[in-house]
Amino acid sequence: MGSTCKGYAVVVSRLKPEQSLRLVISGASSGLGLALARHYLERGATVAAFARRADLLQALAAEFPGKVYCYPLDVRDPVAIRHAADDFIARAGVPDVVIANAGVSVGTLTEYAEDLAAFQQVIDINVLGMVKTFQPFVAPMRAAKRGALVGIASVAGFRGLPGAGAYSASKAAAISYLESLRVELHGSGVSVVTLCPGYIKTAMTARNPYPMPFMLAPEVAAARMVRAIERGALFCVVPWQMALVGRMLRLWYIQKCTLCTPSI
Ligand SMILES: NC(=O)c1ccc[n+]([C@@H]2O[C@H](COP(=O)([O-])OP(=O)(O)OC[C@H]3O[C@@H](n4cnc5c(N)ncnc54)[C@H](OP(=O)(O)O)[C@@H]3O)[C@@H](O)[C@H]2O)c1
Repeated sequence: MGSTCKGYAVVVSRLKPEQSLRLVISGASSGLGLALARHYLERGATVAAFARRADLLQALAAEFPGKVYCYPLDVRDPVAIRHAADDFIARAGVPDVVIANAGVSVGTLTEYAEDLAAFQQVIDINVLGMVKTFQPFVAPMRAAKRGALVGIASVAGFRGLPGAGAYSASKAAAISYLESLRVELHGSGVSVVTLCPGYIKTAMTARNPYPMPFMLAPEVAAARMVRAIERGALFCVVPWQMALVGRMLRLWYIQKCTLCTPSI
């Protein structure tokens, strides 16, 4: 077993063979998003790839002729996403799966005024970028009565990690936002999947100076996440060991808070 998952919904790809799946993946130019895109493309799916670096999207498209629709855009730009969504739906159809994966991680400390811009950037991309990515697809998927909206959160959203206030807050917000969306879409045929990776070996973690337990290659993480989506999981931690780490951190934190403030 490679992940800890809770809840089950419509099993997306058992309804359709993988080669006929249509997906939208943000942050498809590198790391986890690229690995997810490759995983699906290698099985014959069609992918709308969102990211800012057009050259990397074009390189992916060259590997899978006719299967990749490239949309070089910034997930902070709702107009660009709306145009991309309209274009993809007109040319390929309503997507079966939309994966809001684009994200950034920047170290932040509240006492430094110069870090305010970084707080803004992380929240804008990791939280609002997810909302803006899903927005134009919700009504068409609801009308089609099927599909999955998948948000890439993080184990970092379980606890506020020091030096990563913006990132932890953004991922905690993503987890809560996805929970709201899941309830809003209950009974519509559209499921909402929250995926919480631990450490994945990508550009994002390359600069971390500390040890990163249970780190996965992006291809391995992507394969486990695809399995979770296929099984219809609603909430999944990849790898499962990081769910235990998250739970231990939570218990440690509650104990500390109880010691300092007996009223909690
Ligand atoms: N790596 C980990 O250990 C880890 C752990 C937990 C969660 N995650 C989450 O997994 C997701 C993918 O991260 P990664 O590790 O694969 O990092 P990565 O290799 O740095 O990839 C980030 C991706 O997001 C895209 N992106 C960033 N800002 C964007 C923007 N404003 N508009 C459009 N696309 C944007 C980047 O594309 P462009 O630069 O071309 O725009 C890139 O494709 C993120 O949400 C991250 O928080 C990662």
